[in-house]
Amino acid sequence: MNRIELDYSFITDFIPEEELFRYQPQIDSLHRTLHAKTGAGSDFLGWLDLPGNITDDELKRIEDTAGRIRKSAEAFIVIGIGGSYLGARAVIEALSHSFAGQTAEKPKIYYAGQNMSGKYLSDLLDVIRDKNCAVNVISKSGTTTEPALALRLIGETLAKKYGRQNMKDYLYATTDAAKGALRKMADKEGLTTFVISDDVGGRFSVLTPVGLLPVAAAGISVRELVRGAADMMHFLNETDLKKNPAYLYAVIRHALYSKGKAIEILSNFEPGLHYISEWWKQLYGESEGKQHKALFTASVDFSTDLHSMGQWIQDGVRNIFETFLWVKKHPSGTTVPKTDDDSDGFNFLAGKTFDYVNERAYEGVRLAHKEGQVPNMTLLIPELNAYYLGQLIYFFEKACAVSGYLLGINPFDQPGVEQYKSNMFALLDKKGYEEQTKKITDMRGELKTKKV
Ligand code: PA5
Repeated sequence: MNRIELDYSFITDFIPEEELFRYQPQIDSLHRTLHAKTGAGSDFLGWLDLPGNITDDELKRIEDTAGRIRKSAEAFIVIGIGGSYLGARAVIEALSHSFAGQTAEKPKIYYAGQNMSGKYLSDLLDVIRDKNCAVNVISKSGTTTEPALALRLIGETLAKKYGRQNMKDYLYATTDAAKGALRKMADKEGLTTFVISDDVGGRFSVLTPVGLLPVAAAGISVRELVRGAADMMHFLNETDLKKNPAYLYAVIRHALYSKGKAIEILSNFEPGLHYISEWWKQLYGESEGKQHKALFTASVDFSTDLHSMGQWIQDGVRNIFETFLWVKKHPSGTTVPKTDDDSDGFNFLAGKTFDYVNERAYEGVRLAHKEGQVPNMTLLIPELNAYYLGQLIYFFEKACAVSGYLLGINPFDQPGVEQYKSNMFALLDKKGYEEQTKKITDMRGELKTKKV
């Protein structure tokens, strides 16, 4: 099979190859732990075999529902946050027209429930009010504040427009099989629902209906996405670091972290990959950032950010390394035009494709960054399509699990995100948070506000 490859040629100047391959026994053992499901967080390993377990019937049900949405809706609103929306958005934005909002293609896709900005939501209502709408609300717990509040607002608006009794014609819910407020509401209203199984955590759920329904509603082949993930799953069922690029990626990250690198930057040269980076940041940041450990995951979009963060990457604190995403084949063929007077001096590029120029920029940047003491590696993606994105998703998921185990943490929980929630609920006077409210009130009393 054609597949994503890891080019680590520019790592070995910083870490000798033997040092990387010395991880082999540890990787063998972690591979066994992962596949025997005996490690930390093993209740959440449903994603590991998932691409091979999705049935034709499940895909068909997703495609049929997506077909209904595509037929009826001018606006399709995906409500969810974190793992319940980033994967879908990543795939949709990578594979859609760069100006999907301005083309005639229907439905237009909007996202809600990923923030609590009143301006964002009222602007969204302005845009969707006069359009035929369909909504997919996605929440595994069914109780997350941001999507719950967005659903209230959008649900209210659509109920006024279509009648509450017709909710099942425009609202689709993806949630737990039995638990949570969203499940209760969906059952009560007779909505079409899709289930997120208990053993798949949010940020590993893009290949469940969480990601697949929105992706299909955007007109993208979920069969190709799943096929790519399944091929990568089989390919990565191998412990040898010389044959398993996901394990090697995990090892390189860990080796660099152990040598004091604190930040991994994911750099792309394709604007459409912006949300792939957002999804990746969440996957690694939320999985690994525990017990005061782990790399901080950052991202840049090149060549745009070469004119902003490029300076810092080239010359700032040397506590970073970089992983490039490079797409090898481009269909566009758009070329640089020739001008009569060559006033800008760029006629030497006339007739060359923009992608050729972009590729020289990528090569120049990886060399420059290596010389600037930034270890870097590249994930070579043969082409930007659903099949290779499926490969990429599974690649990052598997590498993340092993990378987390190398750190000695549980990559499948997220205890830290509860802290802000309990403070927020206490400050909002939610019932049950009285003790926290008192603690915060006392803290505020003791705190001398300093303002200038
Ligand atoms: O990866 C995770 O577990 C989180 O990012 C969740 O997906 C996110 O908090 C949304 O949770 P829920 O789907 O329960 O609304």
